Amino acid sequence: MKILSLLALFLLVSCLPDKGDLVYSLDGKPAVSPVEVEAVSFATIQTEILTKCTDCHRWAKTEEGIRKKLVPGNAEASKLFRSVESGFMPEDAPPLTTKELELLRGYINSLVAAP
Ligand code: HEC
Repeated sequence: MKILSLLALFLLVSCLPDKGDLVYSLDGKPAVSPVEVEAVSFATIQTEILTKCTDCHRWAKTEEGIRKKLVPGNAEASKLFRSVESGFMPEDAPPLTTKELELLRGYINSLVAAP
């Protein structure tokens, strides 16, 4: 009987969702687990950030367009993020604030690659 209850306990524990696992990206570097990233919507990114880009970049007008400039789930590897984090963009305008950068990072890191 003791064995049975141990088995039941084991089964229960192995069914619990584990939240702490790291998700690894294709290049082998650990990416932040999606559960730890606060999801940011495209609408937020659009009003807070992309309006500063659309005068010069048509691709910044749509979600599809910016997808071509980023690596889903990996802000650091994304052209879109790097261009603003470095201060290279927006051209001829003040760099993005830390808060804006964090929003963009949150948005990109919460994206999942298309299957
Ligand atoms: C005043 C015009 C202007 C504004 C505003 C501007 N850019 Fe640019 N951007 C340029 C120019 C010019 C280049 C260099 C030419 C090229 O490579 O397309 C460039 C290049 C880039 C590139 C690299 C090339 C590419 O298209 O992949 C990225 C990424 C980029 N910009 C992102 C942004 C983002 C994000 C914003 C808004 C926060 C922004 N830009 C705002 C003019 C602008």
